[in-house]
Amino acid sequence: MAPQNLNLGTRLLAPLHDPCQTCRTSSHVLPRPPTSSHVLPRPPTSRLSPFFPYLGRMQLRVNDRTVELHPAPGERLLATLHDQLHLTGAKFGCGQGECGACTVLVDGRLTYACITLTEACEGAQITTVEGLASDQSGEKLAPLQRAFVAYDAAQCGYCTPGQLIAALHLLDTHPNPSEAEIREGMSGNLCRCGTYPKIIAAIQATARGEFRELATDAGTTTDSSGSAS
Ligand code: FES
Ligand code: FES
Repeated sequence: MAPQNLNLGTRLLAPLHDPCQTCRTSSHVLPRPPTSSHVLPRPPTSRLSPFFPYLGRMQLRVNDRTVELHPAPGERLLATLHDQLHLTGAKFGCGQGECGACTVLVDGRLTYACITLTEACEGAQITTVEGLASDQSGEKLAPLQRAFVAYDAAQCGYCTPGQLIAALHLLDTHPNPSEAEIREGMSGNLCRCGTYPKIIAAIQATARGEFRELATDAGTTTDSSGSAS
């Protein structure tokens, strides 16, 4: 029994991986840290200390609503939207400002939320895909969203929230964009499903006003394609 116990203790104290037999170092074979890096550490308790109750407190305007937050030092805006505000429309893709899945507007500028510090956005107006629908319930889709549906511009849909925000920004800055301008304006947003031609068609249709809302006497609204809501 004793030798077995000793063996167990030796195993527990041993490194997780044997050293490389070539260079005799174990550093490059240690397990990688978790890759969900956008979920950064929660605020240390000292930030919520009764002696400094306002330390770390900040306000944002998110989709026309004022919210008060305690972001952790270094917390990224995407993590704040997901974990504190439960706005999960913007997606985590590359986490490196490359794919555009996390795109939001910060004071009207296209922004990769995965690499933007929350504390750098204090007082800013943030627009996420949840802010596009024109009613509080989010059921009344914006013209751009209806165009994406009508033109089948989403397959898996993972990139779509970021694409919609980028398209919104494009149409705000170029109300009648050429195809080249659309390609340029949307170039920061990747789609693994390759829906680019349909995204371009949906943006062109929106620019033509095909999905513009029209008020009717009955108090309902229709879009210019004729469907009532
Ligand atoms: S997740 Fe932010 S750019 Fe890819
Ligand atoms: S629709 Fe699947 S990644 Fe764009």
